[in-house]
Amino acid sequence: MMGMSVEVTTDVKALIREGAELTDHALEALIPAATTIPASIHAAMRHSVFAGGKRLRPVLAIQAAVAVAGNVPAGIANLGAAIEMLHTYSLIHDDLPALDNDDLRRGKPTCHVAYGEAIAILAGDALQTQAYEVLAGLPSISACPPAATVEIIRLIAQATGTVDGMIGGQVLDLEGEHQKPTAALVEAIHRAKTGALIRVSVVSGGLFAGATPTQAAALDTFGRKAGLAFQIVDDILDVTQDSAQLGKTAGKDLASDKATWPAVFGLDQSQRDADRLILEAFAALAPFGSHAEGLKAVARFLVERKS
Ligand code: IPE
Ligand code: IPE
Ligand code: MG
Ligand code: MG
Ligand code: MG
Repeated sequence: MMGMSVEVTTDVKALIREGAELTDHALEALIPAATTIPASIHAAMRHSVFAGGKRLRPVLAIQAAVAVAGNVPAGIANLGAAIEMLHTYSLIHDDLPALDNDDLRRGKPTCHVAYGEAIAILAGDALQTQAYEVLAGLPSISACPPAATVEIIRLIAQATGTVDGMIGGQVLDLEGEHQKPTAALVEAIHRAKTGALIRVSVVSGGLFAGATPTQAAALDTFGRKAGLAFQIVDDILDVTQDSAQLGKTAGKDLASDKATWPAVFGLDQSQRDADRLILEAFAALAPFGSHAEGLKAVARFLVERKS
């Protein structure tokens, strides 16, 4: 049993594909059909959710659960789906004219380009509220106890909130445009706008699988480092890849004069920082032994990806 899961997890492409399929299946069942009234918002939610995201946060949650439990716990796909709803909501709003004003996302027209600004705002709102409905239902479809579920909900709400969370990070990111970025500012932006949700994806996956406080703390350290590395790589790819490869507008950060890691440290140092953070993240996983091989493989992918 143990040997099998380790073999499966060494093939990171297969592991990500399997996690993404599990997530897509749950999302398909959870999000109302595009014909459900009022149809426009359900079509808009589905447009953005099923545009072809990598599903890396759900995959991290799944592999954190595997690190704790040694297998994929039943029902975890709904946790991953809820996290992906929150992530997609953040992307829809990030792309709005009032924020980054982007027209390409996941290789498709952004939500507001396809459905108009009002419906896009509401589709983001709707994905956020539905995420909490799905989280609250975890005990009824899985072995995740109500107390662990409440803790997961609390941590996810905090990670997407205003104090060191996603929304707070978006505020810093917007207000940091056209200013000379400092190392401290860009680190605060990255930890909050992107790092916090990645970190909580890992921790909540562990808690779902019954992590002890010590295990949850180890996953938190891992998630914190991997989350920062992820956004550093997002900044690098914005400079080094083209729009077709990224499925979103390349070169956007320079054009918007954003506070990015390469703007402060340069491209070479940025890549070295991302690589170093992933090695530091690995060290936190030592207590999990071979059960953490999948989580390590996904973390390595976070810094080696090209889109
Ligand atoms: C992009 O996230 C937005 C950031 C937080 C940097 P991803 O690179 O995970 O985007 P998708 O989900 O695969 O589209
Ligand atoms: C987006 O950061 C972070 C969130 C959506 C919370 P970016 O603005 O760098 O993301 P991309 O590059 O547009 O995907
Ligand atoms: Mg942005
Ligand atoms: Mg953006
Ligand atoms: Mg970016």
